[in-house]
Amino acid sequence: MSGHGAPIPMISTACGPLTGTAEVPGDKSISHRSLILGAMAVGETTIEGLLEGQDVLDTAKAMRAFGAEVTELGGGKWSVHGVGVGGFAEPDGVIDCGNSGTGVRLIMGAMATCPITATFTGDASLNGRPMARVTDPLALFGCQAVGRSGGRLPMTLVGAADPVPVRYVVPVPSAQVKSAVLLAGLNAPGQTVVIEAEATRDHTERMLAGFGAEISVEQTDEGRVITLIGQPELKPQHIEVPRDPSSAAFPVCAALIVPGSDVLVPGIGLNPTRAGLFTTLREMGADLTYENERTEGGEPVADLRARFSPYLKGIEVPPARAASMIDEYPVLSVVASYATGQTVMRGVKELRVKESDRIDAMAKGLRANGVEVEEGPDWWIVTGRGHGNVAGGATCASQLDHRIAMSFLILGMASQDPVQVDDGGPIATSFPIFEPLMAALGAQVSRT
Ligand code: S3P
Repeated sequence: MSGHGAPIPMISTACGPLTGTAEVPGDKSISHRSLILGAMAVGETTIEGLLEGQDVLDTAKAMRAFGAEVTELGGGKWSVHGVGVGGFAEPDGVIDCGNSGTGVRLIMGAMATCPITATFTGDASLNGRPMARVTDPLALFGCQAVGRSGGRLPMTLVGAADPVPVRYVVPVPSAQVKSAVLLAGLNAPGQTVVIEAEATRDHTERMLAGFGAEISVEQTDEGRVITLIGQPELKPQHIEVPRDPSSAAFPVCAALIVPGSDVLVPGIGLNPTRAGLFTTLREMGADLTYENERTEGGEPVADLRARFSPYLKGIEVPPARAASMIDEYPVLSVVASYATGQTVMRGVKELRVKESDRIDAMAKGLRANGVEVEEGPDWWIVTGRGHGNVAGGATCASQLDHRIAMSFLILGMASQDPVQVDDGGPIATSFPIFEPLMAALGAQVSRT
């Protein structure tokens, strides 16, 4: 599947029990960061279990363009010979980050305090997304950016030749913005301080510490205050990437709604800044258990076991939990469709600026398949139809968004009539083995 080629229409039909083990790929957030931090270290970083989805492959290509030696060794193993903090070379061509907001925003941060110029672009989805949220704080370091109207790609950044450190309060709950500022702070002298009112995923902080940077995190009345001492020499690491909880969400949610299912999803990273969906599903009455809980590479990990859950109930998802499950609302809305009562999701304005406007994309597709959805600027409510009562039968637009495409294919696994998506191509950005993995569990998903 390719996110860049001709559309790949797909169909999902109600199936028998889903059973077996679902080995989902490596975490996307940690994979991007492994390549970028590896490229900023001095020496060879080795990575096992890298997600080989298009988003991450685009970041690998970008790191090569900035001068790092990035080699695929086979079997999910990669090696990165870094150029050191501040050592990025000026790329010869345009950096194409494809569909990836994480890729482009983190790379912009990493190059913003290097004395080089780089031009970034992406696909139609990425070129419509807001970049000022990153280029505004990068300007404080002395980096200049010129892009299209509305702060959109394509965009050229002129990195700061004499960067100054920054103190920045992140105005939106965004790990991408926080991480861009921290990566820029690496090559600024002195202390860069980033403050976030709400905790967002903390992989950058954890990994920077792992690479030997001096970084501290303090909880204060203002929020999480992260202090980074600039211009360290990052030490190369051996990284084992945990499996992605955001990908695990799909087989887990499918198992909850397909009668008779019992699926094991082993080795899933359960960093509390990422695991909000699983807490929410358990509150809804899901038969979802954590087995063999352990710590791997500094991240909490467990095997998830999900079984068919016929008595799911809608709940009000606490807005304070939003950041820890921001990518999982689309598939939660699918589970909510099979629950009884309303699932209320508030404080989720960020969903409107993801790969698609995810509230709009899901509301349109769910309504077309017979599910009632109300929405406002930063909230939406799904009225569940209860098990067995979702009509299905419609074709949904995936809007160049992998998680929208996969969510509607999960919807079709338990609906009365099959559900189609107009383009499953974007699935390859984050979960290239989605189709065979779901088929091996017993799902009926095919290309039309
Ligand atoms: C990501 C952060 C999130 C998330 C994205 C990955 C990251 O975006 O939606 O898929 O790896 O930092 P925001 O931080 O902008 O919410």
